[in-house]
Amino acid sequence: MQTIHSDNYPIFFENSLAELKKFVDAGNYSRSFILTDEHTSVHCLPLVQAVFDGHENFDIIEVSSGEESKTIDFCIGIWKMLIDFEADRKALLINLGGGVITDMGGFAASTFKRGIDFVHVPTTLLSQVDASVGGKTGIDMDNIKNIIGTFTQPKAVFISDDFFKTLPERQILSGIGEMLKHGLIMDAAYWEALKNSDLSKPSAALIHRSVEIKNEVVIEDPTEKSIRKALNFGHTIGHAVETNSLINDKHPLTHGEAIALGMICEAYLSHKKTGLSSADLDEIVTVISKLYPKYNLAETNFDTLCAIMLKDKKNQNGNINCTLLTNIGQCVLDNICTNDELCESLSFYANL
Ligand SMILES: NC(=O)c1ccc[n+]([C@@H]2O[C@H](COP(=O)([O-])OP(=O)(O)OC[C@H]3O[C@@H](n4cnc5c(N)ncnc54)[C@H](O)[C@@H]3O)[C@@H](O)[C@H]2O)c1
Ligand SMILES: [Zn+2]
Repeated sequence: MQTIHSDNYPIFFENSLAELKKFVDAGNYSRSFILTDEHTSVHCLPLVQAVFDGHENFDIIEVSSGEESKTIDFCIGIWKMLIDFEADRKALLINLGGGVITDMGGFAASTFKRGIDFVHVPTTLLSQVDASVGGKTGIDMDNIKNIIGTFTQPKAVFISDDFFKTLPERQILSGIGEMLKHGLIMDAAYWEALKNSDLSKPSAALIHRSVEIKNEVVIEDPTEKSIRKALNFGHTIGHAVETNSLINDKHPLTHGEAIALGMICEAYLSHKKTGLSSADLDEIVTVISKLYPKYNLAETNFDTLCAIMLKDKKNQNGNINCTLLTNIGQCVLDNICTNDELCESLSFYANL
């Protein structure tokens, strides 16, 4: 698989960990730090250390796993460690983990001493096809996802399927959610290919194409003034359901599961508002429902979800904004949706 060139940084697919070694060796960094969580420090760090063969002395910073850790408190912990280890402006931070680690590590690095270099080694499917590409870094606050953050590009991204050997199936499916989204918003042929594949083991070619789509969009519009909003399909409702689930559920939804639910609701809104045919709506509902267990929305007050959506940073002038589809493979940006419409789409999902 060919290296993809993003906004001044490469995204490696072949021999990626060897490429990481070359990058670190050539970088002339004063110190290299690796940010992990308790799962990636066990499952992924040894793979990285093996390619360096003891030649590089990394300082390891470990945080607890999960979205609950993507907060300012954990970020302060990272900054404190960097200070304690006397990191200077020539230090490098290697973010080894899923989207929580790449988002928070990117944010911590982009603000430490006004910015030190960082690279991503994404270890979940979701972070490979989505979170590690495009330069959005951030943390959550007051239960609002990604409300604090920066646009800062990594120096490189290293994608390797070696990490999937230990990745739980549920996490693979979480990443599939974003891959389906890439097909739905931009590429009908890609959606077809996904539909006809064994998505419990996505091929390297499918992963590569997903990164290509994400990269094309973010290169055209790095700071989300226009076309990058396409990537928000499924996310207006999905983020609200995810946030609510994180607060209330013992076993919260993954990001991809919440986005899959959001895509069904927003496909319904697309049918109502932007001309998505009933055949396309049926197909989207069928494909997604087959992959993901039904989430019980019955307990959830739809007005609570709408209140969460109103706090979403994608909104302007108090309106709730959605990216919707016109066909499978094509989308339209900036569709204002009323509370009634959003509740109707949630009922559509609940009654499936
Ligand atoms: N910046 C962006 O553009 C962007 C895009 C999409 C999502 N995100 C963010 O990404 C986050 C979700 O990322 P995620 O789904 O990767 O979740 P995650 O980082 O929480 O990882 C999921 C779980 O898998 C474990 N894990 C990671 N790699 C593993 C491996 N190889 N083997 C075994 N276990 C492993 C982690 O420890 C964690 O428990 C959310 O915070 C979301 O907002 C950001
Ligand atoms: Zn997402």
